[in-house]
Amino acid sequence: MTENFPQLSSFDEPSLDAAFATLAEEVRTADTTDIEAFRLHWLGRKQGRLKLISEAWLKSAPPEAKKALGIRFNQLKQQIEAALEAPAPSTTRTARAEQGIDITLPGTVRAPGIPHPLLKTMHEIVSVFHHLGYSTNLGPQVESDFYNFEALNFPPNHPARDTQDTLLIAAQQSRPSRDRLLMRTHTSPVQIRTMIAQAPPIRIVIPGKVHRNDAADATHSPIFHQVEGLCVGPNITFSDLKGTLDHAMKALFGSDVRTRFFPSFFPFTEPSADVQISCIFCGGKGCRKCKHSGWIELLGCGMVDPAVFAAVTEERRKINPADDAYNPEKITGFAFGMGVERIAMVQHGISDIGHFYSGDMRFLEQFAS
Ligand code: PHE
Repeated sequence: MTENFPQLSSFDEPSLDAAFATLAEEVRTADTTDIEAFRLHWLGRKQGRLKLISEAWLKSAPPEAKKALGIRFNQLKQQIEAALEAPAPSTTRTARAEQGIDITLPGTVRAPGIPHPLLKTMHEIVSVFHHLGYSTNLGPQVESDFYNFEALNFPPNHPARDTQDTLLIAAQQSRPSRDRLLMRTHTSPVQIRTMIAQAPPIRIVIPGKVHRNDAADATHSPIFHQVEGLCVGPNITFSDLKGTLDHAMKALFGSDVRTRFFPSFFPFTEPSADVQISCIFCGGKGCRKCKHSGWIELLGCGMVDPAVFAAVTEERRKINPADDAYNPEKITGFAFGMGVERIAMVQHGISDIGHFYSGDMRFLEQFAS
């Protein structure tokens, strides 16, 4: 505003020097922390002080004083521009900005990692059984035909093998069929490995990756995860199996959940059952998720088939011919196997298995709690 700049009473050089000295001092001592405010204050197009000075003084100066006034005006302008470019010594912000580092900007934030939702569910399942006194056993993913099929009562060429479309390792034809290698189709071979190595009582869970030659779709993936369970000892009954799995399902899905056991078939268990839980989405009334049945099928189980104990005994007798640890007259057991993806999909209401493997952070971040 022009009134900020009273007209100069005189345009002689000492008067001009005095007037500009005051302005120069003002610029020198100005606070440049907010550099943009400083720029506007002096160089603003409409209200900047230079503009006001030029309006108040330059325009009304007598012609003979214009040159002296112009020189001083330009000096002041240069001083302001220099101040704009120079770092303000009092502030690290601009000093660092000069070096290309602005320490006041937020840094690169590295989010802490979280367990993958599948691993989380796998640990949850395993931990439910750890609380029941089970321990964990692992086995190889490249497995022999014997452990994956034969010892589990799938004879060579038996149609039961068709239920587990198998990825075979190449160039195995010259080997005896029991030694041929394949990608394990389930975690059950670790039941056999454990029983050959260890006498009863046995209570183990077996988490791990399994492989099947299945085309990927919303509910299938050629690589997926299972948690297997095996409990063997004197007097283990089907009601132990029911009680154990009913407890596990309540621990995983909430105490309101009910379970029911449907007759099924697996070569290595007799009798065999599929376990269903009451639909956690509708409470059993029937909805789209449970196909209006009120029940969701979750896992397979059964009592260990005596043929499995026989295969184990045959192996154990290669080391100790008198071995009788798995005599089916004295020893019984149950086994169960569940798909981790399936459980996690029901837990979280996920409809496409592919989300687990996509690596999409928008999906994964939802499990960061
Ligand atoms: N191994 C079976 C499967 O993958 C599941 C299962 C395990 C069934 C243990 C019964 C007992 O289909």
